[in-house]
Amino acid sequence: MNVKTFRSSHFDLAVDTIGDADLRQLMRWMARVPRLTMDLETRRFEAAWADWLGVKHSVMCNSGSSANLLMYAALESAGRAGRKKVVVPATGWVTTITPAIQLGWQPIMCGSDPRTFGLDLDRLETILKKERPDVVMLVHVLGVPNDMTRILALQAKYKFEIIEDCCASHGSLHAGRKVGAFGCLSSFSFYYGHHMSTVEGGVVATSDPKLREHLLMQRSHGWLKDLPKADANRIMRRYGFDPFHAPFLFYTTGYNLRPTDISAKIGQIQLRHLNATIRRRVRNHRIYQQRIEGCVGFQHAHPGDVVSSISFCAVADSSRARRRIVEALDRYKIDTRIFTAGNLGRHPFWMDRYGRFTCPVADRLFDGGFFLPNNQSLRPDDVHAVCDVVLNAASKARG
Ligand SMILES: Cc1ncc(COP(=O)(O)O)c(C=O)c1O
Repeated sequence: MNVKTFRSSHFDLAVDTIGDADLRQLMRWMARVPRLTMDLETRRFEAAWADWLGVKHSVMCNSGSSANLLMYAALESAGRAGRKKVVVPATGWVTTITPAIQLGWQPIMCGSDPRTFGLDLDRLETILKKERPDVVMLVHVLGVPNDMTRILALQAKYKFEIIEDCCASHGSLHAGRKVGAFGCLSSFSFYYGHHMSTVEGGVVATSDPKLREHLLMQRSHGWLKDLPKADANRIMRRYGFDPFHAPFLFYTTGYNLRPTDISAKIGQIQLRHLNATIRRRVRNHRIYQQRIEGCVGFQHAHPGDVVSSISFCAVADSSRARRRIVEALDRYKIDTRIFTAGNLGRHPFWMDRYGRFTCPVADRLFDGGFFLPNNQSLRPDDVHAVCDVVLNAASKARG
């Protein structure tokens, strides 16, 4: 192994995107003693996010998980969830699925595609034919886009709503279009270690005005107060309320999932670095792909797609081989971790309700998947050094 290229520093999976200059900007704003609860800065951030993504609206909230919950809740209260049958992915994150269970929907788990680790689209079509679900929830796993062209063709044929969990895929592109701009709703997380951070935070994006109304109500107690005045007045007139009721008129059941204006201000500052961060993550991801081809498994995007990954997912041949590689990474102080959930259908929250879900790809991730660092602080040399360690350990594990 070429250890000369290896710096003995610690390569973290995640590093903070909020730097000193960002904090100083935040403090200058705070010195003006602004309002800190959700208000003008949140609306400014929402407009900037929608503009960045290329959709009409966005609704900020306090986490990516809350954003997922809001997507389900808004679809339901807008009357767009039908019989509440939803396809959910075996590979993704737990809160991609759990709001469906909490809200009493019927989740149908779909296995994972061997290349993208997103939805297995042959399997999806079988489910669509047999179960006629109303909604398909998908995750662009670790930034690798699903084949949205084919999913849109399936949507045209079988008629269902698409909701996209993009919590770890900011800036990835399918057919030149950002993920999150395909479904009727899409969610993003701004937690530490993601492409940008608002400390805790998330957002839902949509171009559908009715869904936006429902997101706004679901985010704040189910009240009308956050709707544009004309929309609130329209509903008030429909129910015969006089305007004095306006602040506390509850149209639907809802939550309190609001962000603060502090998070929104940080979000505006962070958004200025986002494209540069994405460029570095895309570059690093490509280096990993080129270097470790044939040594360990990894995700392959649809030709021409751009992958802005949050971490690079590698897959060893077996749990034993993974252990050998992980030990080598530990020796060189390279942060690694199990591939998030692997197969979500093998976790108690799912198995205890619906039985164990098996799928060859998700099971392979469960047994052999692990993360390699990709973040904006890593230079090409760093990524090459990590690859050297993996290549060396994988060949020893085989030999
Ligand atoms: C795919 C996916 N969905 C949802 C979430 C949840 O986001 P948060 O931690 O902001 O709740 C994550 C978190 O990493 C994620 O990776």
